[in-house]
Amino acid sequence: MILDKHNRNHNYLRISLTEKCNLRCEYCMPAEGIPLLPAAKLMQANEVFAIAKTFVEMGVNKIRLTGGEPLVRKDFNAILRSLATLPVELAISTNGVLVDKHLAVFKESGLQKINLSLDSLQPEKFAQITRRNDFKKVTENLELLLHQGFHVKINVVLMRGFNDDEIIDFINFTKTRNVAVRFIEFMPFDGNAWNREKMVPLAEILETAKTAFGENLIALKNHKNDTAKNFKIAGYAGTWGVISTVTSPFCSGCNRLRLTADGKIKNCLFSNQEMDLLSALRENKPLENLIKTAVWGKHAIRAGMDSPEKFQDESLNQDNRSMIAIGG
Ligand code: GTP
Ligand code: 5AD
Ligand code: SF4
Repeated sequence: MILDKHNRNHNYLRISLTEKCNLRCEYCMPAEGIPLLPAAKLMQANEVFAIAKTFVEMGVNKIRLTGGEPLVRKDFNAILRSLATLPVELAISTNGVLVDKHLAVFKESGLQKINLSLDSLQPEKFAQITRRNDFKKVTENLELLLHQGFHVKINVVLMRGFNDDEIIDFINFTKTRNVAVRFIEFMPFDGNAWNREKMVPLAEILETAKTAFGENLIALKNHKNDTAKNFKIAGYAGTWGVISTVTSPFCSGCNRLRLTADGKIKNCLFSNQEMDLLSALRENKPLENLIKTAVWGKHAIRAGMDSPEKFQDESLNQDNRSMIAIGG
């Protein structure tokens, strides 16, 4: 068990495989990009495996691969195959562009859980937010995944005046598809020009859904480690939910740890206190105590930003990596 002082057990590791991405989503990275780390500072495939194995021996039983975009990594298949030898559930968060080229390795490795970013159902808006023209590819890949029986969640970062008029369209997307749509409250990270007014809160999303669906809106029971508050519409095949980190954090059920592409452990999405596991591994030092110390130092809520005022304080909420260098 990897316990913190708030008695939370951490059995879920999110590993970022790269800081590179083939899209350029505005909310995720600064317009000028981020300086790329030299290759020597990044975990090699065998190092990803060695660090992951230590976490698994300590109690981790779920690993999600993130990025940047994890599928742009040239040795992605080798990494996934090696992780598949560990007794863990495997999952990935991807922008979907390269999914069709990886279906075989997903199947071979038993990876069934795929979270896919799709912020608009309109091609022009998709191009605007991602600064790329991959709408057709991503939506085709989404249908392919559903058709082949993968467990798919769609991540929609809502931004006021941009895609908040698509809430009902996205919910209706679940009518005939067995998919989970999650609306995400826009969160602040280094260089993403966050302000609270751009964020669409849980309460407003619920109000919109209630107005449209009335008594057909059903609240679902949530699992204690869920990031989303989940709902469905009576008779619809899929479900939908809201990830409300800003207005209604769910930290009491947090079971997550993060490993950055340069081998640092982050005990919270918002934490800037990282410990360098990769250097320790390269110096043949044991990792267990570093991991335990990192987890013990974890704050109860959002790395210490436990009130709306603190969360809105730029000196606190910008003192972290860009999202592209964390992986969600
Ligand atoms: P599963 O629960 O494993 O399906 O995935 P997830 O929702 O945790 O992961 P995903 O990578 O799809 O992320 C969706 C959104 O949730 C992103 O905006 C993430 O930043 C956010 N998120 C993921 N994990 C955490 C977390 O531990 N805390 C907070 N506050 N947000 C998280
Ligand atoms: N706020 C909320 N969610 C974000 N993501 C990326 N940047 C942000 C942000 N600023 C989400 C994307 C992706 C997931 C891993 O993280 O939707 O699907
Ligand atoms: Fe866990 Fe930090 Fe996310 Fe809260 S904000 S759920 S503590 S990772």
